[in-house]
Amino acid sequence: MSNDQGTIEARLTEQEYFRPPSKFVGQANVSDPAVYDRFDDFPEGFEEYADLLDWEQRWDETFDGSNPPFFEWFVGGKLNASYNCVDRHLDERKNRTALLWEGEGGEQRNITYRDLYREVNTMAAVLREVGVQEDDVVTLHLPMLPALPITMLACARIGAPHSEVFAGFSASALADRIDDADSDVVVTVDGYYRRGEFLDHKQKADQAVEEADSDVDTVLVWERHEGDLHDDVELVEGRDVLVSELQADHERARVDPVTRDAEDPLFLMYTSGTTGQPKGCQHRTGGYLSYVTGTSKYVLDIEPDDTYWCAADIGWITGHSYIVYGPLALGTTSVMYEGAPDHPHKGRIWETAEKYDVDVFHTSPTAVRMFMKWGEQYLAEYDFDFRHMTTVGEPIQPEAWLWYYKHIGDEDAVIVDTWWQTETGGHLITNLPAIQDMKPGSAGRPCPGIEPAILDDDGDEIEPRSGRAGNLAITRPWPGMLQTVYGDDERFIDEYWQRFSDTDSDDWRDWNYEAGDGAVHEEDGYFRILGRLDDVMNVAGHRLGTMELESAIAEVEDVAEAAVAAREDAEKGEVPDAYVTLREGVEATEEVRERIVAAVEDEIGKFARPANVVFCDDLPKTRSGKIMRRLLADISNEEELGDTTTLRDPSVPERIREQVHGD
Ligand code: WT7
Repeated sequence: MSNDQGTIEARLTEQEYFRPPSKFVGQANVSDPAVYDRFDDFPEGFEEYADLLDWEQRWDETFDGSNPPFFEWFVGGKLNASYNCVDRHLDERKNRTALLWEGEGGEQRNITYRDLYREVNTMAAVLREVGVQEDDVVTLHLPMLPALPITMLACARIGAPHSEVFAGFSASALADRIDDADSDVVVTVDGYYRRGEFLDHKQKADQAVEEADSDVDTVLVWERHEGDLHDDVELVEGRDVLVSELQADHERARVDPVTRDAEDPLFLMYTSGTTGQPKGCQHRTGGYLSYVTGTSKYVLDIEPDDTYWCAADIGWITGHSYIVYGPLALGTTSVMYEGAPDHPHKGRIWETAEKYDVDVFHTSPTAVRMFMKWGEQYLAEYDFDFRHMTTVGEPIQPEAWLWYYKHIGDEDAVIVDTWWQTETGGHLITNLPAIQDMKPGSAGRPCPGIEPAILDDDGDEIEPRSGRAGNLAITRPWPGMLQTVYGDDERFIDEYWQRFSDTDSDDWRDWNYEAGDGAVHEEDGYFRILGRLDDVMNVAGHRLGTMELESAIAEVEDVAEAAVAAREDAEKGEVPDAYVTLREGVEATEEVRERIVAAVEDEIGKFARPANVVFCDDLPKTRSGKIMRRLLADISNEEELGDTTTLRDPSVPERIREQVHGD
């Protein structure tokens, strides 16, 4: 989408509109377009979301923009997120299921709000017992087990920000995040099931703690089978503590939710950027919780009586915002599934949807493409009826959208395509399903109160609705936005604000948030997202930094230099191709290739594994020595080579191209 001159191009075909079914509109949480006018009253409009929560003390000031870009929301307000997601539902719905967990092997746990209240209180007492205090960052490395939301909510209860690291991340990736957050306490589990196999998960925490510079004094270990530690898993004396053992002492514990300022951090979520070091996006309590609760209600149309299933992993922001915090704040039933979508058969998702009578279903374009590849036959057997469906994480191709609409939604459900990011906390561009028509491949209108703009590379606004591609920026603050990059305010400014803001100005209106995505504002006012413009790729909905991959590969001794390019992939969206030059005297063998793949698995995780490793004599570089990754992407994608005139040796890319594709 980006050519060698750095301009952004879009090749798009116009799509038709689909109307939301009238029965959807009739029941929707919001169907009056006046909602947009209410939120245009900035910043007071956003109080509508904050009013969905219970505050111990109401805020004095809705928004404080006096110190950009360190914006504050609901200043002076006090609340607790755990109280809002658990305690406040006890009066009216204590016996309603909060979390409906399905194990891969078919076990089921219905955790009611009352159960959740008990579990969260007990875990909060456990955390305190091992010394966690308010404002300590607790690092979690938990898979899709009830232990994960319980631990998150327990942390929130005692005011200890959690930092959950997706379970698929390697020990080294975990170690980096433990160090960056300077955590003394790590929470893990003995293992979990994936395609029928029990994975020993705790060993990653063991290795991470060893690698980390931080002094981790306690590793809390949950058990996949309560009270029954897996035989292969060993505990380290004096450091490891079984959660179940401490739980026994605190079974009836009541831990008062700590009063948090609206601006106190709720959690960190690390994400990849353009440098090797992941960024800890720090989210605040009041603004974040208001924003995800509001968008869960207005965009996802969640009703308290719904069974809602977001088939994402809680280890990413989607799960934090739209499996845990938003849905539970609304008091609904949120489904969690432990395992693989094709285990033991490719109808598993639909079987589960039928079993729990799911109303609202949330997934990614990658998953839709996979279901499409598997074929409709896996759907036929099951009887389920979604009212509302969502996609997130990547642009969805109209073809995949239409398949989702027809075969999963039975042409009778609305689809919202939600554009947002780890940094934004919640949805920023997406239609409100009862108000706008759907258009395949287009995320739609900005959410209420959100003001996007398309800027050219000089930062000048491209005319709205012109259909011309440019850089997506957000020109007005919103409550769900990250507060800062943990421990690094400067990096926060550099990564998100520097480029399109007047950084000398004290006026928040001069500050524009750079999303890093290319987008088009179409004539009808809908936004179409084109994808990342920076060195960040999107593999099966997982964000990966090119630099992170490259530095992992460069750790291999045989490697002289490495560059990674994103190749378009019919299923995963993008996959990384690694272009590598080897040190003098090293031969390009299968063994070296395996070492490279293993290095990526060890440094980041299996999900980041390069699809191809191409050994080259040289990499395309400018005269100043900068690697032109765009040319490598052209080669990977079998596109015509872009401009090579600025290269030190213009013949390099052509040689690599021949090597990869022949002729
Ligand atoms: C990047 C953010 C937000 C939760 C999942 C990913 C891409 C996200 C869409 C969409 C097109 C999308 C963007 C964005 N993206 N949603 N609906 N259409 N692209 O969170 O890991 O922070 O990645 O995902 O490129 O910048 P993330």
